[in-house]
Amino acid sequence: MFKRNILITGGAGFIGSHVVRLFVNRYPEYRIVNLDKLTYAGNLENLKDVENAPNYVFVRGDICDYERMLLLFREYGIDGVIHLAAESHVDRSIRDPFTFAKTNVLGTLSLLQAAKTCWEGNYADKKFYHISTDEVYGALAFDGTFFTEQTRYDPHSPYSASKASSDHFVRAFHDTYGMPTIVTNCSNNYGPYQFPEKLIPLFINNIRQGKPLPVYGKGENVRDWLYVEDHARAIDLIFHKGKVADTYNIGGFNEWKNIDLVRVLVRTVDKLLGKPEGTSDRLITYVADRAGHDLRYAIDSSKLKNELGWEPSVRFERGIEMTVEWYFENQTWLDHVVSGEYENYYRNMYGKSSC
Ligand code: NAD
Ligand code: DAU
Repeated sequence: MFKRNILITGGAGFIGSHVVRLFVNRYPEYRIVNLDKLTYAGNLENLKDVENAPNYVFVRGDICDYERMLLLFREYGIDGVIHLAAESHVDRSIRDPFTFAKTNVLGTLSLLQAAKTCWEGNYADKKFYHISTDEVYGALAFDGTFFTEQTRYDPHSPYSASKASSDHFVRAFHDTYGMPTIVTNCSNNYGPYQFPEKLIPLFINNIRQGKPLPVYGKGENVRDWLYVEDHARAIDLIFHKGKVADTYNIGGFNEWKNIDLVRVLVRTVDKLLGKPEGTSDRLITYVADRAGHDLRYAIDSSKLKNELGWEPSVRFERGIEMTVEWYFENQTWLDHVVSGEYENYYRNMYGKSSC
């Protein structure tokens, strides 16, 4: 018997895999059920080190499949949800907004409805924690202001519009049905196991291979970067100590102009390759800007610090070094992702080929 049965959705993805690892190792008294569809972004190789833990279960499934979610809640007696499953890449949302609306909006709704059906009348000790993004707040000017929990939603991309919609559904389930929900909005994460379509792992891989580094527009857009393990720690803290029906912003107070960040990456990778400083600068290539590219994001996470005592623990320069070193030391992981071989891991591990 486990003390709690926690459903983590999207646990085979980048952030989800760090959250699963942290919970499996830190809470042997909990059963951790990792539900993931294994889209292109889901990779069970991210979780090799915990896959045989006695308190860990992997289930392949789609959050949009309401009947399946209902069965899952009942089979495992789920009493807590940490919901990360989503389509997460802005460029993909520009090409294919429907998939984002389906997974991020309808998928979240189907999960909420399954939780409501199973929990209604007995919400004590239940929690539905939804992981969202700072992108729902829109864009800031270069004026020193920050997104706070009071900032009005103003999403610009299909991705952020879908996440904003899912946030509203989560809050509506609290306000309408009394479901104990929490929403957090986090800034850009970086670190091990990030899919190499996102800026940092894509550029580390390209520098290593001597390929161009496609900087969108003038490279002047600003993002606020947080080491992924700090985000996972915040999720753990908020899941256990956060106030129901509340919202917390999570961020690093760590703003970087894209081009400055790219220069740090170039310097760090060149150093590790033993090349003279500046060798790979020639790879920087300015390309057409992302449509609707938000100028600046910056999160004010002081509420989380003041109320729950969370602060980022990894300094950015060190975090980037650790990240670059990780991608160098885990070339097989990267090769498998780039070649697509990672998609065979589920079949080899579980002897099945589909959901
Ligand atoms: P990711 O793309 O790396 O992983 C997403 C995971 O969700 C994958 O494992 C994928 O297989 C799974 N998934 C997708 N559709 C599914 C479906 N229909 N049913 C079940 N599983 C499905 O994403 P990430 O970067 O780890 O982000 C995780 C969450 O955190 C997302 O909700 C994202 O919006 C949010 N977030 C991300 C960042 C960031 O910087 N990456 C920052 C703030 C918030
Ligand atoms: O802010 C939180 C968000 O951060 C999350 O909600 C998203 O899931 C996550 O993908 C991330 O979104 P971004 O669009 O900010 O991340 P990305 O790594 O795609 O891009 C970071 C910045 O770098 C952005 O300003 C666009 C730019 N960029 C990105 C790529 C992939 C480039 O200039 N060139 C590139 O090739």
